[in-house]
Amino acid sequence: MNTITIKKAVRPFDQAIQVPGDKSISHRAVMLASLAKGRSRISGFLPGEDNLSTIEAFRAMGITIDGPGADGVVTVNGLGLDGLKEPSGDIDCGNSGTTVRLLSGILAGQDFAVTLKGDSSLSSRPMKRVTKPLEEMGARFTFLGEEGKLPYTISGGKLKGIDYKSPVASAQIKSSVLLAGLFAEGETTVTEPLKSRDHTERMLILFGVDVSVDGVSVGVRGGAELQATEVEVPGDISSAAFFMVAAALKKDSLLTIKDVGINPTRIGIIDILKKMGADVTFNDQRGASEPVADIVIKGGALKGVDISGEELLPAIDEFPIICVAAALAEGKTTISGAAELRVKESDRIKVMAHNLTSIGVKVFEREDGIIIEGSPEGLKGGEVATHGDHRIAMSFAVAGLFSDEGVTIKGAECVDVSFPGFFTLLDSVRDS
Ligand code: S3P
Repeated sequence: MNTITIKKAVRPFDQAIQVPGDKSISHRAVMLASLAKGRSRISGFLPGEDNLSTIEAFRAMGITIDGPGADGVVTVNGLGLDGLKEPSGDIDCGNSGTTVRLLSGILAGQDFAVTLKGDSSLSSRPMKRVTKPLEEMGARFTFLGEEGKLPYTISGGKLKGIDYKSPVASAQIKSSVLLAGLFAEGETTVTEPLKSRDHTERMLILFGVDVSVDGVSVGVRGGAELQATEVEVPGDISSAAFFMVAAALKKDSLLTIKDVGINPTRIGIIDILKKMGADVTFNDQRGASEPVADIVIKGGALKGVDISGEELLPAIDEFPIICVAAALAEGKTTISGAAELRVKESDRIKVMAHNLTSIGVKVFEREDGIIIEGSPEGLKGGEVATHGDHRIAMSFAVAGLFSDEGVTIKGAECVDVSFPGFFTLLDSVRDS
């Protein structure tokens, strides 16, 4: 296990940096390119452990995938909707919820059975949210351990389209059902309580599929042909978020983060930081399938705010770093409607409450959120455990920049799940 201590930053941050490619978009690019006929080229691919799990899964099913090389390019030789072959063994999804849930949708439509497994964190996360609608469509699941959890065997087959009302706003559920819908007879529609990230819909359109979007409802018809294409993956706003918060909190900073995806379903962190008083602007907005910009952050002081579940949804993965921003803001921050955070890579409400308390922050944990008393003068510091959760590790690295005694992070290697090179980039920013 790697232990890293991050000490207080002295100087403001004033650089232009780039963060690695978007995790959600990288997963979808490999999946759809595998289902398309012909050679697709993906640039800016995130070589994180989660995305490598997705690549390995499709290689195991007979798809030839080259890369990712040092240039971030992956090429996929897709064999069409009916081109996947039965793998010779189980498929290991590692730590990746997106891999297992989206892949389950694709496997639901295959005429072979596959066993999916994952690491201990993934094996404790709820899977009924996808297996239930996929069963309704005609797939069968056998849970090999605990009911509703990995590992499970999925026996795919002939599917019929459904009109699914998801109880949770979740892009993983929506995408799983839509991907199964590609193999189903008739139309498949998913309706969510609120609109979750829409990368799957955008990328299906990029690969030539007709997608109907009506507010919080999305539909596809079975049997569409996917056409191989070029995908440019923008920088991940969820990775940029750690540097955005660091710069927003450090007086006199002027940090530019180049080529970041600013899909409207993902920019909740910017709206929340602005509500807290941060100065954040977009430069050079561009992009087609996915909008992209350079994000410019000026450092100053933040104030505590109330954040609802609706505000948090487009910043769902930013909860840990928002908690760090709140810990250094003037006044109290209350986050509610965030119960989903309990079933992420770790129970992020519990782990954030515990770890913030360990470094001297006053915190009150609630069933569906958290209340944090900010101290703009800085944090005391101390030691925290990551529980193998990449975003917990990176959030406490940022906390360390504002601590008197430094923050020691035990289990820091998990940053490789979504952000290989995180600590090197952090070092270069703080020493600039
Ligand atoms: C993701 C969707 C979100 C997010 C996860 C990635 C995706 O999960 O937290 O990191 O790529 O679709 P939920 O759909 O469970 O909210």
